[in-house]
Amino acid sequence: MVYDILVIGTGISGLTFAIKVSEQNPNINVALISKGELDEGNTRYAQGGIAVVKDFVRDSFEKHIEDTLEAGGFQNKKKVIEFVVREGGQRIDELLQWGIQFDTQNGQLHLTKEAGHSANRIIHHKDITGYEIQQALVKKVQKIPNVTCLKNHTLVDLITDHHVQSNYNRCYGAYVISKEQKQIITLGAKLTVLSTGGAGQLYRHTTNPPESTGDGLGAAYRAKVYMENLPFVQFHPTGLFPKVEGRTFLISEVLRGIGAKLLNEKGIEFMSQYHRDKELAPRDVVARGIASEIQKGTHDYVYLDAQNISFKKWLKRLPNIYQKLISIGINPLKEYIPVVPVAHYFCGGIVVDEHAESELKGLYAVGECSSTGLHGANRLASNSLLESIVFSHRAAMHCLASLNEPLPPNIIYEKIPKWKGKEYQEFNNPEITQSLRLKLQDTMTNHVSIFKTNRILDIAEKEMNHIYTEVLKIYNRNKLDVELCELRNMVSIAHLIIQQAKKINTNQGVFYNIDNE
Ligand code: SIN
Repeated sequence: MVYDILVIGTGISGLTFAIKVSEQNPNINVALISKGELDEGNTRYAQGGIAVVKDFVRDSFEKHIEDTLEAGGFQNKKKVIEFVVREGGQRIDELLQWGIQFDTQNGQLHLTKEAGHSANRIIHHKDITGYEIQQALVKKVQKIPNVTCLKNHTLVDLITDHHVQSNYNRCYGAYVISKEQKQIITLGAKLTVLSTGGAGQLYRHTTNPPESTGDGLGAAYRAKVYMENLPFVQFHPTGLFPKVEGRTFLISEVLRGIGAKLLNEKGIEFMSQYHRDKELAPRDVVARGIASEIQKGTHDYVYLDAQNISFKKWLKRLPNIYQKLISIGINPLKEYIPVVPVAHYFCGGIVVDEHAESELKGLYAVGECSSTGLHGANRLASNSLLESIVFSHRAAMHCLASLNEPLPPNIIYEKIPKWKGKEYQEFNNPEITQSLRLKLQDTMTNHVSIFKTNRILDIAEKEMNHIYTEVLKIYNRNKLDVELCELRNMVSIAHLIIQQAKKINTNQGVFYNIDNE
C-alpha cells in the first residue's frame, strides 16, 4: 500500500493534521493509523484545556510568552514560543468552525486559570476538554473520502534508506502490525507524520493510557533520528490516590486555579515554603513540594482541600471529577482529596524545525513525541494542546507544498521490501514480556523519578542494561507481536532517558538531581 501521507497516531495532532491536508488537497491519499480505536489515546483524557490569549485587556501575548519561559526554566526557544502564542487564536477559531464546543460566559469564551499562568487564559469544555475535541475530530475525519483510517495497527519501524538501499537521508513510510490480520504490513509513503504521543507507561503510575509506550520515539531511535530532552519527564502534581495500575485519574490543575489548597498529612498548608505563588507555582515546583512533604511524612500522599468550592461550581466547572470522586466514596464538599504526583508528559522528544520536520527528510513529528523547543525544561499547563494545533497546521502546510517537489529518483514506493523480521503470530510467552515490563516500570518509578541522585542513576542504568539484554534475547528468538514491540520501545526510551540524565549537571525545570544542588 502506498500513500501520499502516512499519519501515525490519532490524538489532536494527528487528527487535525489529517483533516487539514486531506481537505485542502482532495487529490492526495492519506492513511491514518491508530493503535486501538480511533478515539483512544492521551488527548481524550486532557481535562484542563488550551492556553490561548483571548482577553487582550487583562492578558497579552507578552505575558503568555513570559509565563512559558519561566515555567520552562528559560530553556525554551523564544522564537518558537512567540509564533505558537501568536498563532494560537487562529487555530482555536478553526476548531470552533469545525464545531468543537468550548464553555462560554456572556457570549465570550470562558477563560480559566491554571498554575504558572499570570492571567485567565485556558479555554475548556467543562473538565473534559480533550474528550470533546477527540470526539468531534474523529467524527469529522471519518467523513473525509481521501483519508483511509486503519484502526488497531501499531508502528513497528520507520522505513529508511537502510530498507530501500539508498542514501537520501529520508523516510519512506513505516512497517506496522495489524492486530486483526496478525501480520506486519508495509505502508510506503512520500511523507510520514508521527503523532504517537509520549511514554507515560514507563512509570507504574501515570495519567497516560496503556497505549502510551513511546512507539514513535522508539522507532525514531532505531532510525537514528535526533532526540533531545528525554529526561524532562513532567510529573503532574495531583494524580488521585490510591494510585491504580494502568492509568491514574487526574485531578485537574483547574481545581487549584479556582482555589483548592494543598495540605500535608497533618492538615497544614505547605506550598508557601516552596514558591511565592503557592498552589499556582509552576508544575515542577508544586510536584517537588508535594514529593518533599511525602518524604518528610508517613503517608504516600498529601491532600487537596477543595471544600471552599461550592457544589454549583463543581457541577459547572468540574462535573466529571466530582462524579469520579463521589463514585469512589470521597465527597469533596466535606472531605480532603488524597493526591500524589504521577508521570504525565514528555517535554522532550524528536527534534523538529518550525514546520515540524525532523532531520530525517519526509519525517514529521507533532504533539508530545516532538521536541519543538516550546516547553523547555518544563511544560506550562495547557500549552500542549496549543502546541499540537499550531504545529499540526504548520506541518500540514509544509507537507502540502513538499508534495509538489520531485521525489528522490530510483525509489519505487510500490516495491519497498517487506518487513525482514519474522512473521507475526501470537506471542507464546506473554508472562515474560509482562514481567519485564513491570520490572522496567519499577526501575523508572524507583530510580528515575522526581528526585534523582548519581548513585541511583547508576543503579537504574545497571538494571536497565539487564532488562535490555533480556528483551533483545526475546526479540531475537520470538516472532514479533504488539506487546514485544511496546517493550522494545519502552526499554530503548528508558535507556536513553537514563543516559541523557547522567549528563545533565544543572537542575532545570522538571529535572532534579540532588547531587547537582
Ligand atoms: C490539568 O488539567 O491539570 C492538565 C492540564 C495539562 O496537563 O496541561
